[in-house]
Amino acid sequence: MSQNIIPVLTIDGLSGVGKGTVARIVAQKQNWHLLDSGAIYRAFALAVDARGVDITNEEALEKVAQTLGLEFKTKPGNELVSVYLDGKDVSKILRTEKTGEMASKIASIGVVRAALFKRQKDFAKAPGLVADGRDMGTTVFPNASFKVYLTTSADERANRRLKQLQAQGSKGIISQILAKVKARDERDSSRKHSPLKPAKDALIIDTTGLSIDEVITQVVALIEA
Ligand code: DC
Repeated sequence: MSQNIIPVLTIDGLSGVGKGTVARIVAQKQNWHLLDSGAIYRAFALAVDARGVDITNEEALEKVAQTLGLEFKTKPGNELVSVYLDGKDVSKILRTEKTGEMASKIASIGVVRAALFKRQKDFAKAPGLVADGRDMGTTVFPNASFKVYLTTSADERANRRLKQLQAQGSKGIISQILAKVKARDERDSSRKHSPLKPAKDALIIDTTGLSIDEVITQVVALIEA
């Protein structure tokens, strides 16, 4: 079935904007599939690291993409339970700041994006798909039926990250977190290949000061309109 027939909702935005949570809940409500494209880039970065691949060697990077043994285990309702990379559960390490940094760096390489393109397209299956990332509405699913772009101030995203770390029993220094958030924003938005930017036809929602429920209400209204 083509992407034109299968309804696709794309949710793009900077790191820490809440797109993963919004995507999961909307997918659950609609009973649609879920693509967490950031998890693919993160797993790819882990594989490159584990296999000791030189990131300037394009052929070797393509080979990693072709042989990436990636499995997402979800619970009914699409809640991502665990991610297996080459048979190993990498769920915890996948979500760390360090893996996010590695993913952001490696995601700026054109051959990597091209090699992971089809893997992402293949998630579009009936009855529908919610895809979250940086270039879902611009590059991977340009014909998506519904597109959302979430934005939130860097300060608010850094504060949310600090609270997450504290909830996990870790410490963080707000100025350092903010600096990292801004550096990743800059890298993801200014790279040559598929930089983060809103699709021309995306609904832009500034989530600063909004609750997750308020954001979800706007996204669901878009689909149902
Ligand atoms: O959404 P995330 O934080 O899990 O993504 C990790 C990194 O992967 C992000 O900093 C940039 C990259 N990425 C990307 O380039 N394109 C996507 N569609 C998703 C993620």
